[in-house]
Amino acid sequence: MEEKKKKGIFRHIGANLKGYGIWTALTMLFGCLEVMLEVLIPMLMSVIVDGGLYREEDFMLREFFSPELIADRNRFVITVGIIMVCVAIVSMMFGLLAARCSAVASQGFAKNLRSSILEKIQSFSFANTDKFSTSSLITRATTDVNTLRMTMQQIVRTLMRSPIMVVMASVMAFTIAPHLASVFLISIPFLAAVLAVLMKIGQPRFKRMLKKMDAMNRAVQENLVSSRVVKAYVRGDYESKRFRETAEDLRGAQLSSARLFTLTGPIQMFIMWGCTLIILFLGGKEIIFENTGLLTGELVSMVSYTTQAVSSLTMLSWLIMSMSRAQASLNRINEVLDEEIDITDGDFDEKPSDGSVDFEDVCFSYSKDPEKLALSHISLHINSGETMGIIGGTGEGKSTLVNLIPRFYDTLSGTVKVGGRDVREYKLENLRDGVSMVLQNGSLFSGTIAENLKWGDPNASLEQMKEACAIACADEFIDNFKDGYETKLEQDGANLSGGQRQRLRIARAIVKHPKILILDDSTSACDMTTDEHIRKALHNSMPGTTKIIIAQRIASIMTCDRIAVLDEGKLSDVGTHSELMERSSIYRDVYESQMREEDEQNAES
Ligand SMILES: Nc1ncnc2c1ncn2[C@@H]1O[C@H](COP(=O)(O)OP(=O)(O)OP(=O)(O)O)[C@@H](O)[C@H]1O
Ligand SMILES: [Mg+2]
Repeated sequence: MEEKKKKGIFRHIGANLKGYGIWTALTMLFGCLEVMLEVLIPMLMSVIVDGGLYREEDFMLREFFSPELIADRNRFVITVGIIMVCVAIVSMMFGLLAARCSAVASQGFAKNLRSSILEKIQSFSFANTDKFSTSSLITRATTDVNTLRMTMQQIVRTLMRSPIMVVMASVMAFTIAPHLASVFLISIPFLAAVLAVLMKIGQPRFKRMLKKMDAMNRAVQENLVSSRVVKAYVRGDYESKRFRETAEDLRGAQLSSARLFTLTGPIQMFIMWGCTLIILFLGGKEIIFENTGLLTGELVSMVSYTTQAVSSLTMLSWLIMSMSRAQASLNRINEVLDEEIDITDGDFDEKPSDGSVDFEDVCFSYSKDPEKLALSHISLHINSGETMGIIGGTGEGKSTLVNLIPRFYDTLSGTVKVGGRDVREYKLENLRDGVSMVLQNGSLFSGTIAENLKWGDPNASLEQMKEACAIACADEFIDNFKDGYETKLEQDGANLSGGQRQRLRIARAIVKHPKILILDDSTSACDMTTDEHIRKALHNSMPGTTKIIIAQRIASIMTCDRIAVLDEGKLSDVGTHSELMERSSIYRDVYESQMREEDEQNAES
C-alpha cells in the first residue's frame, strides 16, 4: 500500500513505455524545435511591416540585416518573406515529425499495457476472476487502454510544447511592450478557475461513463455468448429492449462528459478574442494619439504572441481535462495490475509423487466469511489409484470440493494434500500437471480437434490422442468426420453436440496422463451405455490413476471403490454402494427415487 502511494498513480506507466522511450523523447525534442521556430514568425511579420512597409528607423532585428538590403525595399520585403516561409515550413516539418513519433510512442505504450493486463489476468486465480467481471476486464483492456493511448499521445505532444510556447511568447510580448503583455496575464487565473470547476464536475461523470461502458459490454457479451438461449426462450425482443436501454444509458453518460469538453472551445475563443481586442484598443490608442514609440508591426506581432500564448494555455488546460478523464481509466487499469494474486507458487519443484488426496478438516467460503461456509469441516482420504464417486444434490459443494485439489481456490481452514504434501507447497505448474480436471462448464477452443487435445499434452502423438479418444468414447464420432482429427471446431465447439463436447473434454484430460483425474458431472449429456463404456475403459486403461467422479446419476458412480455423499457442504457419509444403501438415508433416497424414475420410463416405452 505504502509502495503504491509512493509511486503514485503513474506507477505502471514507466514500465509499459519500455522500448518506446526514445520515441517519447524524440516527440518532445521535435515539439521544442517546432515551437522555437513558430515563435519567430510574428517577429518576422513585424520586421516586414515596420521595416518594409512603414520604413521605420528602429524596427526589431534591424542589426541582423545589412544596410544595403534595408535600403532596397522590395528586395528586403521579399527576402524576409522567404525567410518567414522557410521558418514556417521547417517548423511544420518538425510538427509532423513530432506527431508521428507521438503516435508510435503511444501505440507502443498501449500494446505493452494490453500485454501486461493480459499477462496479469492469466495469473489470476479463480477468486481474482470472480472479483472483476469478465465484461469489466474487457472494457479495461480495450476502452480504458485506448483512452490512455489517446491522452498519452496528446501529453507527449503538448506537455513540452505548450509550456515552452507560453513562456517564449510571453517573453517576446514582454520585450516588445510589457504594459500591453500584462493583459493576457489576467486570463490565467480566469482559465485556472474554469478548469478547476470543469474537473470537479468532470471526474464523477467520466467514472459513470466507464461504468456504463462495462454494462454495455456485459450486455453485448451475454447476448452473443447466449444467443441460442435468447432464441430458445424467444427473448429477442426483451433483450433488444434491455440492450437499447443500456445503450441509451451509455449515450446519456457519454453526452454529459462530452458536453464538458465542448465547453473548452468557446472559452478559449472568448479569452483569446477578449485579450486581442483589449491589446488592439490600448496599442492602437498609443500609436495614434500617444506616440510612445510602439510601432504598428510590433502591435501586430503582440496580437500574434497573445494568440499563441493564450491558445497554448488553453491547450494545456484541455490536456489537464483529458488527463482527468484518463485518470479514471488509469485507476481502473491500476486496479487490475495491482490485484494481489491470492494463489501463489509454493517452493516444491516436483510433481506429486502419487495420486493420493487428503482433505484434513477443510472449511471453505467463497466470501472468506466463516459464517457462510460452502464446505464445512471435511475430512476425507482418497488412496492413490482409487476410484471415488461423489454424489449430492445441486449446490451442495461437490464442484467446490474438487476445485480445491488443483488449488483453484485456497481453503479457509484445514489442509488439502496431494501425494501426501500440502497443495500450497507445490509449484502450481507441477501440481496442475499432476491433476486433470474436466470442469463442469469447461470450454473447447476454436481450432482443430487435434489442437484441442494437445492442450492436455503439446507433444502428444496421433496414436496417444487416438488412445485417449478411445477411452472417452470420442473416437467413434471423430472417425465419422471427413477430416478426422483435423476437423475444425467453432468457438467452444459449437459445431459439436453436447455429448460430443463432453467426450472430447474427457479425452483432452486423459491425454495429459495425470495422477489424478477428476470428472465433474462430465458424462451428464451422454447416454447410459456410453457413460458405462467410458467408466469401464477408465477402469481398465488407467489403473494407477486416481479417479474422482462427480455425478447426479447413481448408476454413474455405484461401481466406484467408494462413494462420498455431500449434504449442505458437509461430508454426510463415505462407503461402498452396498454400505451406503445400508446406512445412508440420503443415498438410499436418491437411489430409490432414481430407480423409480427409470422403472417409470421403462414402463412408458
Ligand atoms: N464462484 C462462486 N462464487 C460464489 N459462490 C459460489 C461460486 N461457485 C459456487 N458457489 C456457491 O457455492 C455452493 C456450492 O456450489 P457447487 O458448485 O460446489 O455445487 P455443486 O454441488 O457442484 O452443484 P451442482 O451439482 O449443481 O454442480 C453453491 O451454493 C453456490 O451458490
Ligand atoms: Mg457442480
